[in-house]
Amino acid sequence: MSREWLRKRKKDPFYKQAKVEGYNSRAAYKLMELNERLSLFSAGSKVLDLGAAPGGWSQFALEVVGQRGLVVAVDLVPFSGVKGVEFVQGDIEAASTIEEILRFSNEFDCVLSDAAPHLSGNRNLDLGRALALNWAVLKISVVLLRKGGSTVVKMFRGDELIELKEGFSDRFRRVEEIKPRSSVTKSNEIYVAFRGFLGWQED
Ligand SMILES: C[S@@+](CC[C@H](N)C(=O)[O-])C[C@H]1O[C@@H](n2cnc3c(N)ncnc32)[C@H](O)[C@@H]1O
Repeated sequence: MSREWLRKRKKDPFYKQAKVEGYNSRAAYKLMELNERLSLFSAGSKVLDLGAAPGGWSQFALEVVGQRGLVVAVDLVPFSGVKGVEFVQGDIEAASTIEEILRFSNEFDCVLSDAAPHLSGNRNLDLGRALALNWAVLKISVVLLRKGGSTVVKMFRGDELIELKEGFSDRFRRVEEIKPRSSVTKSNEIYVAFRGFLGWQED
């Protein structure tokens, strides 16, 4: 983290708001907007949050789903301060991680992924890694979503985004791209919502 990055972050209104409101990350506001616009989950829903650390999305999801609901968070690294969230430490791309998640449910209403690979600076390499990661998220989704459920992933603009959308569009009723207000305008990042899961089919 450079000094410049730290200086910009301190000035960021969403960073300040997250501090005041007790969210572990400013990313919580992205999920608030995504849920407001897309109605992904509500009280009693089961939510799977992939690439969840440091936990802002899980915190917000838990507030919405409440005690009757379930939030399962997955990340390579553990995080603290989110009581009530079930945590699986593991790699989204590893088969063993699905086994762990299955201990909690096989019928999630919503699968979220804010996961991003560690960026190398090489655009092609980074886009390829992001595609592989999101391909794994969608593979998990078609196994663990209930019929009618939704998946939202973070992706970067480019041919890989088109490939991802085409690869899974026949499994969902609607696929759309969304750029939340709290997503840094200059960044290439975009969220893709796959909604209305049509049900499990063998490949
Ligand atoms: C931008 S952060 C997520 C922020 C989170 N949504 C929040 O609200 O605080 C991305 C996370 O993805 C995780 N991640 C990246 N690749 C992963 C993988 N293959 N398996 C599991 N987690 C991964 C990283 O460890 C990191 O914590």
